Amino acid sequence: MATLRLGDTAPDFTAVTSEGTLNFYDYLGDGWGILFSHPADFTPVCTTELGTAAKFKGEFDKRNVKMMALSVDGAESHKEWIKDINETQHTNVNFPIIADEDRKVSDLYDMIHPNANDTFTVRSVFIIGPDKKVKLTLTYPASTGRNFYELLRVVDSLQLTANHKVATPANWEHGEKVVVSPAIPTEEAKGMFPKGVEEIKPYLRLTPDPTA
Ligand code: BEZ
Repeated sequence: MATLRLGDTAPDFTAVTSEGTLNFYDYLGDGWGILFSHPADFTPVCTTELGTAAKFKGEFDKRNVKMMALSVDGAESHKEWIKDINETQHTNVNFPIIADEDRKVSDLYDMIHPNANDTFTVRSVFIIGPDKKVKLTLTYPASTGRNFYELLRVVDSLQLTANHKVATPANWEHGEKVVVSPAIPTEEAKGMFPKGVEEIKPYLRLTPDPTA
C-alpha cells in the first residue's frame, strides 16, 4: 500500500476487534473518525495512551468523533490487556481495538515502518472526515506517547476550517483569534466576519473565532 496522503480516501475494512467484528465505515457512520495504532499489547506507553484515550472519549463524542485503536495482537489478548488498562489507568476502555494479527489494516494504512521495526506498528494517527477523506496524519515512534490534548485541538481546527474560510495559527486553541484565509480580500473579509477583521499585514488578518 502506498503512503496515505491528506485528501486520499481512507480505506474501508472489516476487522475483528475487542468489541467483535466491525466494518470501519459503518462504525464511523457520517461522523468523524480517529484511527490510531499501537506497537503491541501489554506495553507501558500504549497502556497509558489507551487509558488517556478512554478518559477523553466524552470530549471526542462532543465533536462527533469516533475512536478506533489497533494493535497487532489478537482479540483475546486485547480483552486481557483492557482489564489491566482499566485497573492501572482508572478508566474503562470504551472504544474498539482492532486485533490486526494478519497485519491487514496495518498494511492498508502503512502503519508498519520496517526501518523502525519489522513487526510492530509505529504510533500512527489518521483523522478522517465525514467524507471519508484523510484530514490529518501523525506518526510517532514507539518510544513517544501521543498528546491527546493535541488530537482534540487539531479536531477543533479541522472542524472549524471545514466550515469557515479561516485557518488557525500556531498553538491556537478553540476560542482564540483565527487567521482569515489568504484568498479573501480584506474588504470582502470585513463583510464575511461581523466580529471584525484586524489587518496586521495585507496577508495576515485576524478575526475572532466565529464559533466562540
Ligand atoms: C510501549 O508502548 O511502552 C512501547 C512499545 C514498544 C516499544 C517501546 C515502548
